[in-house]
Amino acid sequence: MSTYYTTTPIYYVNDKPHIGHCYTTLLADVASRFQRLVRGDRHDVFCLTGTDEHAEKVVQSARAHNVSPQQWADTNAAEYKKAFKAMNFDCDDFVRTSEDRHKSKASAYIQKLVDSGDIELGDYEGWYDPSQEEYVTDHTAKESDYTSPVTGKPLEKRTEQNYFFRLDKHEDWLKEQIESDAIPVRPSARKNEVLGRIRQGLQKVPVSRRIKEGDADWGIRMPNDPDHRIYVWIEALCNYLTAIDTPDRQRFWPADVHVMAKDILWFHAVIWPAMLRALGKEPPRMVYAHAYWVREGRKMSKSLGNFIEIETIQAYCDRYSRDAVRWYLLTQGPLGANDADFAHSHFLEVYNNELANGIGNSTSRVGNMIAKYYDGVLPRTCNGEFGFDDGVALQTAVAARVAVGKAPDDPNRTFHFPQITGQAVTRAIEAGNDFQIDEMVRQGLAIVRAVDEFITYSAPFTLAKQLDDHPEGDHALGSILYSSAEALRIASLLLAPAMPEKMAELWANWNCAPSEGVPLEELARFGGEYALKEGQAVQKGDVLFMRADPKEDPPSPITTG
Ligand code: MSP
Repeated sequence: MSTYYTTTPIYYVNDKPHIGHCYTTLLADVASRFQRLVRGDRHDVFCLTGTDEHAEKVVQSARAHNVSPQQWADTNAAEYKKAFKAMNFDCDDFVRTSEDRHKSKASAYIQKLVDSGDIELGDYEGWYDPSQEEYVTDHTAKESDYTSPVTGKPLEKRTEQNYFFRLDKHEDWLKEQIESDAIPVRPSARKNEVLGRIRQGLQKVPVSRRIKEGDADWGIRMPNDPDHRIYVWIEALCNYLTAIDTPDRQRFWPADVHVMAKDILWFHAVIWPAMLRALGKEPPRMVYAHAYWVREGRKMSKSLGNFIEIETIQAYCDRYSRDAVRWYLLTQGPLGANDADFAHSHFLEVYNNELANGIGNSTSRVGNMIAKYYDGVLPRTCNGEFGFDDGVALQTAVAARVAVGKAPDDPNRTFHFPQITGQAVTRAIEAGNDFQIDEMVRQGLAIVRAVDEFITYSAPFTLAKQLDDHPEGDHALGSILYSSAEALRIASLLLAPAMPEKMAELWANWNCAPSEGVPLEELARFGGEYALKEGQAVQKGDVLFMRADPKEDPPSPITTG
């Protein structure tokens, strides 16, 4: 099967990680975990994250803390690694732009662009946004009243002799590639924005800065001209190649998806594909720019001091489990074009509704019934077709309800579990390939909901109470419980990329950890080779998610000085 390569932005090390950095990396982690599952092979999937260390603001921040840029970068890169470990991200590599492997290869790419004439020396005068370390077009500068469109801080008019990347040469090609979805830019609202901006015309992009006296010795110099330093954005983009430019990793190019937020889409959808073209490399297969997290309805910013920092996230993980936090971020996050709000009350609602009363409750109900009625051993298998071939089981269950005066409104319902689970798997794979990560993980929950409905309808607990008088009902009871458990096993596969620890806990109890090396579609076949078996022990185990009091206060972060 083909390889899958996903990247996150590499994050600035001037400060510590917060919810935004964790969210983007979570998306890449879950997408990669899912693709490993689809392929049954982790070696075909590569997930890259890392840190961007040569920015001017890293130098300033280091100075303010009285340490060298390298020391400051080391400290904060370690914070990112720690945060990503705490979130249980399973990335394959963490690239730091101050590493030799990055510096040497990035310079080689730049040299190649100089040799091919795509980078050339020239004079530049333009509007510079010091807060974002980028030049903005005259049009943008005017529109935003000569302040930064991102931070609102004043722009500066700058003139300098620079090396330029001839972005203008790629205008028609970029327009065509993006318009035709040869390079899909997603969500589509973002594609339209990018196209609108390309249509205003592309200019040459400065890619170096002359080193001034007093500048820190930090960054990567122009390979042919050491008086110039490569502009940080240009070498940072190269990380997506430098990290996999080794004999065993080259097969991962082109990247399947570069993931980021909308703030840095232009670099990824326009400048980077043009650089790749000039380097003779294929463009990425998708550029995905999500929106922002805001907090309790307000934009997060330094001046408001309201970032959801890693300590707050950790406090939620400690109280509700990190899988619950992962689930909330994934399913409620700003994956589309709109911003998403992190609100405590909403967290509790989702936690109770989808986790405690969803997957948690279903698995514990089914596990408890198997324990109670069959001593924790599956009595038989069943083809999962209720109201179809195995209609008798459902009719028996409905008769048991009628006998106690609890007849269902519709006595002729059907449940076709091979179809319900098969469809969910197909949809999850389609959504995964389209980077609809929320939709992808939700397919697991869709199966859980179907099982819940099935249990409510077939009421196995009612059937069980009548077994003394109607021993023939035992077959129906066993079939209902088997099918519920088997459907939940398949749901757990689809939920595992989002909630790896909780699903591993379930697999340990139910003896159904997925075999290594087997692709998802085989693992997930209802009643197939990897299905639950007759005579298999299914232990009830602890409840996966305890219900929360919908009125409880947010957990408070433990601050360490
Ligand atoms: N270093 C550059 C990226 C270079 S990539 C070659 C950079 N770094 S950053 O530290 O500022 O990270 C920006 C990214 O962090 C966003 O694109 C997004 O992925 C994530 N987020 C930062 N704040 C965010 C929110 N409030 N909400 C969601 N994600 C956000 O830009």
